[in-house]
Amino acid sequence: MMTTPWLLLSFAVPLLGFYVPISCPHSKRCQRALLSNNDVSLYCNASGAQWYYYFLQDGTNWSIHPLSVSNIEAMSEGSILIRSPLPSQSGLYSCRDQKDIQVVQYEIDFQDISTLHITHRDLGQKPLQNETLSLGSKEIIFTRWEPWQDCNRCGEPGEHKRLGYCYIQEPLGNSVPCLLYLGNARLWSSRMRPEMQIEACHVQCETSNTKNITFDIAFDNFELSEESGSAWLTCFLGSIYRPIIWEANSKSLTWQGQLSGQDLSTVLDPATGGRRLQVFRPAIYKCFVHQELVARFNPRPHREKARQQRETGEAWKGKTSYSLLKGLKLLLVGTMLSLLGMLLKLFCPSRSKRRKQVLLVK
Ligand SMILES: *[C@@H]1O[C@H](CO)[C@@H](O)[C@H](O)[C@H]1NC(C)=O
Ligand SMILES: *[C@@H]1O[C@H](CO)[C@@H](O)[C@H](O)[C@H]1NC(C)=O
Ligand SMILES: *[C@@H]1O[C@H](CO)[C@@H](O)[C@H](O)[C@H]1NC(C)=O
Ligand SMILES: *[C@@H]1O[C@H](CO)[C@@H](O)[C@H](O)[C@H]1NC(C)=O
Repeated sequence: MMTTPWLLLSFAVPLLGFYVPISCPHSKRCQRALLSNNDVSLYCNASGAQWYYYFLQDGTNWSIHPLSVSNIEAMSEGSILIRSPLPSQSGLYSCRDQKDIQVVQYEIDFQDISTLHITHRDLGQKPLQNETLSLGSKEIIFTRWEPWQDCNRCGEPGEHKRLGYCYIQEPLGNSVPCLLYLGNARLWSSRMRPEMQIEACHVQCETSNTKNITFDIAFDNFELSEESGSAWLTCFLGSIYRPIIWEANSKSLTWQGQLSGQDLSTVLDPATGGRRLQVFRPAIYKCFVHQELVARFNPRPHREKARQQRETGEAWKGKTSYSLLKGLKLLLVGTMLSLLGMLLKLFCPSRSKRRKQVLLVK
């Protein structure tokens, strides 16, 4: 009886994810660099679409069972969602329609997030420098930067980030994402890393930006684990590809604080661009995406500890049913959220267009 809401919750929560929509023009060569470990969706405008994958590292044949890969799911209208893509899933993604005609083909380099090189301009940290691929060759390895993302807060000092991908410039002048260039050639350079650069920013709040899409979700049931004494919080609608900011007891958590070693009470997870936050003590944590409050967390000490501290077991029982009620509430909010998300996508084409533009990797 007691497990039911949590069972349902585990289905509801993944719906809250945000997947960066990637799209490529019809029947044109389309090479993209993206990051591993961060969800993306590949767009294909074909009903009854079939997808075929060719993973470069395997050097095997096309995978002919389109959805046989466990972290790839079919979405509405022929698109697919790739959850936490692995670097080894770099390769070709071909979408074919019912008549087996190719609609679109993506060539994707999922660059290894575990090698991400992070620098903060205001700390004087320098991005990686250009290098030649190997002695005597004319290929240059360099970082191709995306535009800066929007400032993560307004009216007060904030930060923004930009992502940079490893590219190789061929002697003839074309630039190609590193792994797509090297294919399964076992050439490797320590320069082959994606980058994230951060700097301070300060923008005015737009007065026109009055619409409140605020989802204030209280997670009263989060617990700091007994062993590590910490908890991981996830900013559901956040993504490394979008501006995120966390607050602890209304104080901003900055990359500058973290990278300079000043802020030791929390850890922004670099591999998710700060979508996940590790916390070590109870506080009110809030996360904002595109300057809108998305979630509020209120982690407590571990329940065993809490119980030891408490005099009677009765008080705890009351709390449990309270948490379950909260769980049900969250489930409802979650479902509404995903519906709202879909509606938003339908009715705010300009926003999603802007997002796509930001992601354009030439
Ligand atoms: C999707 O395909 C249909 C039919 O081929 C076409 O009418 C429509 O414009 C396409 N939509 C997009 C966004 O490309
Ligand atoms: C690839 O396909 C060809 C022909 O369909 C087959 O002969 C070959 O064994 C396959 N190779 C692998 C690695 O599956
Ligand atoms: C690095 O290489 C790229 C591609 O050739 C070039 O556009 C860029 O200017 C180079 N940067 C530096 C600092 O040399
Ligand atoms: C927007 O949010 C603020 C505080 O978060 C609240 O005071 C205001 O009433 C909200 N406006 C609307 C239109 O919901």
